[in-house]
Amino acid sequence: MLRWVSRRMRRPGWDVDLERPEGDLPAHIGIIMDGNGRWAKQRGLPRSAGHHAGMLTMREVIRACDDIGIQCLTLFAFSTENWKRPEPEVEYLMRLPEEFFRTEIDELAERGVQARFIGNTERLPEHTQEVVRQTLERTKHNRGMVVNFALNYGGRSDVVDAVKAFAGEVAAGRATWEEMTEDSIEAHLSTRGLPDPDLIIRTSGEIRLSNFLIWQAAYAELWFTDVLWPDFTRETLYQAIRDYQRRKRRFGGLK
Ligand code: FPP
Repeated sequence: MLRWVSRRMRRPGWDVDLERPEGDLPAHIGIIMDGNGRWAKQRGLPRSAGHHAGMLTMREVIRACDDIGIQCLTLFAFSTENWKRPEPEVEYLMRLPEEFFRTEIDELAERGVQARFIGNTERLPEHTQEVVRQTLERTKHNRGMVVNFALNYGGRSDVVDAVKAFAGEVAAGRATWEEMTEDSIEAHLSTRGLPDPDLIIRTSGEIRLSNFLIWQAAYAELWFTDVLWPDFTRETLYQAIRDYQRRKRRFGGLK
């Protein structure tokens, strides 16, 4: 049933021949993939069907970003607040990485995608952690697009962990408090070494960041759409990028 639903919903909208956005591409795109539950409800399906369909959209977005040369993609898959959901839904979401990486790992590896996980993965169920470890191991030497899967991620914890790590260095005598700067905090964030997100997309009509990359998003262009995540298409992605390209980014200056 799920396979049938997913095949049917995937066909439209992911046409590789669609004219690509050229020119100044965002180096790093972050996506808050929202609206899976409503998508399922509209169809009289269980919420898990929405998450499954959302996973298939996620696959297409990774492919599309890689096809057009995006350097880095961060996908908000599970927030530190999502544990409040009913247990069966949490369990289902924790099983999705197994299915996803089992079927996608070869293609990700072929594309040279380097998978990373941001968030507190140590608190994930052991079976999910096992997939995380295997995926990291399999893709660690890849030098293509970096895909951060945000799992049990919260932006505030990211900042707290970075400050703690820096404080640990001070305590160990490897750094001084005077050396605590924006750069030194950034060097301890989960996204260290990656460019800040240029563009953050959120689907399903919600207009907030919900604790996603809050430090890193300081100068990101935000793009919101009413489209529910499973209905997100290559065209929606390209639209977001084209709108981003029309924005004037001044970073506080006058240019
Ligand atoms: C938000 O929609 C979506 C999530 C909490 C889960 C997103 C997860 C995926 C798209 C797949 C992740 C897969 C892997 C392999 C990491 P919602 O449930 O809050 O939707 P609603 O607001 O309509 O209820």
